[in-house]
Amino acid sequence: MTDPADQTLAVRGRVARPNAVAYKEAGALLRAGGLVAVPTETVYGLGADATNDEAVAAIFEAKGRPRFNPLIVHVRDAETAARFVVFDDRAKTLAKRFWPGPLSLVLRRTADCSISLLCSAGLETLAVRVPDHPVAQALLRTAGCPIAAPSANPAGAISPTRAEHVAESLGDKVDLILDGGPCPVGIESTVLDISGETPVLLRPGGVPIEALIKVIGPIDVASAETPNASPGMLASHYAPRLPLRLDAHSVRADEALLAFGPAALAGAAVTENLSRRGDVKEAAAKLFAALRRLDQPDLTGIAAMPIPETGLGAAINDRLRRASAPRDPQEETSSEGDLLSQIGAVVGDKGLITDPDAMAPHLLELRGRFQGQAPCVVRPASTAEVAEVVRLCAEAGTPVVPQGGNTGLVAGGIPFEDGQAIVLNLGRMNKIRGIDPANDTITVEAGCILHDVQQAAEAADRLFPVSLGAEGSCQIGGNISTNAGGIQVLRYGNMREQILGLEVVLPDGRVWEGLRALRKDNTGYDLKQLFIGAEGTLGVITAAVLKLYPRPRARASAFAAVRDLDAAVALLGRIRAAVGDAVTSFELFPRLGIDLALAGVPDTQDPLADRYDWYVLVELTGGGGSDLGEPLETALMAALEDGLVPDATIAANQAQTDAFWRLRENMVEAQKNAGGSIKHDIAVPVSAVPAFIARASAAIAALIPGIRPVPFGHLGDGNIHFNLTQPEGADKAAYLARWEEVNRVVHDIVAEFSGSISAEHGIGRMKVDENRHYSRRWRSS
Ligand code: TXA
Ligand code: MG
Repeated sequence: MTDPADQTLAVRGRVARPNAVAYKEAGALLRAGGLVAVPTETVYGLGADATNDEAVAAIFEAKGRPRFNPLIVHVRDAETAARFVVFDDRAKTLAKRFWPGPLSLVLRRTADCSISLLCSAGLETLAVRVPDHPVAQALLRTAGCPIAAPSANPAGAISPTRAEHVAESLGDKVDLILDGGPCPVGIESTVLDISGETPVLLRPGGVPIEALIKVIGPIDVASAETPNASPGMLASHYAPRLPLRLDAHSVRADEALLAFGPAALAGAAVTENLSRRGDVKEAAAKLFAALRRLDQPDLTGIAAMPIPETGLGAAINDRLRRASAPRDPQEETSSEGDLLSQIGAVVGDKGLITDPDAMAPHLLELRGRFQGQAPCVVRPASTAEVAEVVRLCAEAGTPVVPQGGNTGLVAGGIPFEDGQAIVLNLGRMNKIRGIDPANDTITVEAGCILHDVQQAAEAADRLFPVSLGAEGSCQIGGNISTNAGGIQVLRYGNMREQILGLEVVLPDGRVWEGLRALRKDNTGYDLKQLFIGAEGTLGVITAAVLKLYPRPRARASAFAAVRDLDAAVALLGRIRAAVGDAVTSFELFPRLGIDLALAGVPDTQDPLADRYDWYVLVELTGGGGSDLGEPLETALMAALEDGLVPDATIAANQAQTDAFWRLRENMVEAQKNAGGSIKHDIAVPVSAVPAFIARASAAIAALIPGIRPVPFGHLGDGNIHFNLTQPEGADKAAYLARWEEVNRVVHDIVAEFSGSISAEHGIGRMKVDENRHYSRRWRSS
């Protein structure tokens, strides 16, 4: 004898009357990872065992649903829900009043939640609901597992309210359809997010918002601007094939009419009246079936008469608005599904990440301030693969966000929250293609880690001079795309100055072959310069030829207190006059920075005995045979005598040099212990640094009394990290809320000095508006 479940696997899409045999079979199918369509009071759901990753993945596959769109999980009762989500008092109150029924609650997952992460689509929340339909309830009991179920229709299309609707559109993709007749409510559940402080209505539905407000008070309504609020509420959705026209007060003979109320318009080719007596509840129940019947290929469109916004009317109008929205090709999930499979065919399993856990680190900005969404993270292994992926995305109209080590401070490598763009991560392209010591060049792929490039240069007895805090994980492609700076710009220049050639995949997928290794090349425009610092907006850098330098053979460093900022600038001039280009770094510290480091960072010492307002760290490097200690000492002694430098110490060994640099590298860490810090990455001419710091410090002190400036950084090249620690004892959140206001005051002063509001971190997503505000430099006369 064959097991009934085996038989149904062979015949897909069979419609069964719900009786004991059918429940048993449906339960067995679900437990075995199959898909069962089940009626609920709202619409038919496409159900799978919510704890089974593969079964849940099959739902996305069958519907052609984007992976970033989370699923509602159906459970028997509130007690079961509480095993999967943090079920607080507010949830209990709502459950008591509205469950079983058409309300889905979005809540935080419990720590040991066994529901597949795919249901949450990368969010920390999960939507749960207890359906009221007897067939859904019976199935939940026989299956014994929570059931993930979106509406049982292809993504973007009209939702199903009868078993036939499911059979017509998804018949070949489901194992069994339980026929429970027409759905009594007829419109999907209301989705309410109560994971945060204020409840947010994500989707109007079967429970009117008025009823919810009566029970829990004020509710925010999610809009397109609410980030992340409702990943699945695509503008175009529930759509018939015919265009839908809203608020119709007349109808043409080649149109279908969706009527409402006693006075249906006359003259339509075909009419469906949702409710002659003007009852929104009746209208909701009929809505989707009526749309299906009106969607006839020989007509030109569907005209919909106005429907009041009250009660279920809000949900009906929401569906009609989405059904009438222009159809964005991206939102037609079949094309999304196609694109992912096409990309998968190019880059293989290793190169395509869609698992939310594995994608998570690529979607989150270093400091946690930006959390993007994407259908996938693509990790190509070659330039040809990058080119093909970019070409496919260009054809599909899908945006691409190139990403390196994801160490950026302005979120340039993080996609938007709308989940439209794919992330193109270059990390697998990490080959050093060649090194030419005689030409002093190295050719590297974009995904090479900066530190690995430094090491490869060193192995060939050369120096690659770009050096910065993130060098252990940042990648060359990102360094080039942001025109990175760092601690040796004074001597060697920034990233732009290290580049002789580039290989770039252009936005249409063509490869620009600019991988030359020439120090002289005057053949027309220098196109590579366009891609440097372009932050991926003009193309994807896949490889570069970088300059190498002789390795320094001699080194000397000193830590000096300076009388004031003018003295610091004068000291730089004097030392450069003495030793020329040997000055590699000239870094500024304020006393508060030192104090915070001593208090909060282990293993830090004050290099000098007394306290002074300002300090500099000077580092000299030079070729073989040069003695740098002596000229440094001479210059410092002279400065001491002239009163520029009250005290200084020269490192006697590498350990002391390292101790100076530890202080410098911990400046940011040190500030963390003192509360909120509002940051600026500015540059002004070196000569203007003292005046800038004085003016900007006075201006922000007037704005926020007690604010504590910690300006530090690359005085030698005019790039100051003008970071502002909150007043002692102030409220951190309230302080940080003034970020933009403070930026404006500081950046206005930067602008007066013709400075830069982004010296070495880039624009990214963070400074787009700020950049626009300050970049109007055109004049017509
Ligand atoms: O009435 C209904 O809710 C039906 C029946 C079958 O239960 N289901 C349904 O599911 O309409 P679906 O997948 O078509 O719509 C669920 C909506 C989507 O817009 C989705 O983005 C949102 O709920 N959603 C699900 N989980 C969420 C979460 N954790 N956070 C925010 N939105 C979520
Ligand atoms: Mg749906």
